[in-house]
Amino acid sequence: MQTSEYPVHNFYAGPGKLPTSVLARIGKELHNYRSTGMSVVEISHRAKPIVDLIERTQQKFKELLGLAAGDEVLFLQGGGSMQFIMLAMNLSEKGDSVDYVDTGYWSKKAIGAALELERDVHIAGVSETGIPKHLSIRENAKYLHLCSNNTVMGTQWFQFPETDVPLVADMSSDILSRSIQANDFGLIYAHAQKTIGTSGVTAVIIPEKAREQLLPVTPSFLSYASHIEAASNYHTPPVFSIYVVECMLDWLRDEIGGVENMEKINQEKAEKLYAFIDQSSLFDCPVVKEDRSMMNVVFNLSDEGLTDKLLNRADANGMIGIKGHRSKGGLRVSLYNPVTVEDVEALIQFLTDFENAS
Ligand SMILES: Cc1ncc(COP(=O)(O)O)c(C=O)c1O
Repeated sequence: MQTSEYPVHNFYAGPGKLPTSVLARIGKELHNYRSTGMSVVEISHRAKPIVDLIERTQQKFKELLGLAAGDEVLFLQGGGSMQFIMLAMNLSEKGDSVDYVDTGYWSKKAIGAALELERDVHIAGVSETGIPKHLSIRENAKYLHLCSNNTVMGTQWFQFPETDVPLVADMSSDILSRSIQANDFGLIYAHAQKTIGTSGVTAVIIPEKAREQLLPVTPSFLSYASHIEAASNYHTPPVFSIYVVECMLDWLRDEIGGVENMEKINQEKAEKLYAFIDQSSLFDCPVVKEDRSMMNVVFNLSDEGLTDKLLNRADANGMIGIKGHRSKGGLRVSLYNPVTVEDVEALIQFLTDFENAS
């Protein structure tokens, strides 16, 4: 592992890199939050500075996603995994028909939660090397769940299904990395630690039109309605994580220039890396071209025996976090919003040198 004397290029799959300017802001503000004379981590969640922080961050989220005033953005704890459970509980009852697209690792976890809750689960489509092109969606399904970016498999939805069944999306690894029509969804959830912040907080977006579908849920802690009613202050919220999200949203708006610009930068990073992999005789990407993720580039070495050698050398050269997910092996490079074009160029240079030397 490099020390901070050397440049480190952070490609961790999450929690991952934060922009240098965001880290500098957090450092600068840590001892004195908005002239309160206190740190943001020392202030009661019922006090005005924190109530305002939550409200402002919700508002910025809505602006960046193009949501309307009546739509809800909740900041909850429990990560993406808690949402696998909460969404099923709030949108369906035991025995109800619920449809899921199985695109591998994380979508399977969501399916597992619905099965544990004894929903009548139907798999509307399956693919682990791409995105299924034909779905069989039941008319009476309470919702259709999909994972918009498959962090482990390296696949991403570029066109979402058109259906009258409410669409529920796990956007944990691509929220605000590209433009979407948020209003086309019945519900969106995304933990913060990949594209918009650090771990501890998960955003749940509930468009106004979806409010009436919410069922009364007990325990009430697991009810979206409770958290809407309490404006994400039903219990002590993850104040610091929400604060980091606000810093990230400011960065996205003011330094990047909004989500469309972010998408262009993300496209450029991914195109560069895939172009390098495709021309290489040592590296190979197993994902069908049209479904390749802009966020997580999954690839292998044609000579698998070289993987460990490459990973050791990567670590020694400051190329951090490129080991494939433990369920898949190989390599995975995560190109979340804060990763720069320069990070990607440095990685390509490193991989080129490795290939030339092998
Ligand atoms: C797409 C996706 N959904 C859900 C999860 C699980 O999230 P958490 O670890 O916050 O529970 C992950 C974790 O990486 C993920 O990539």
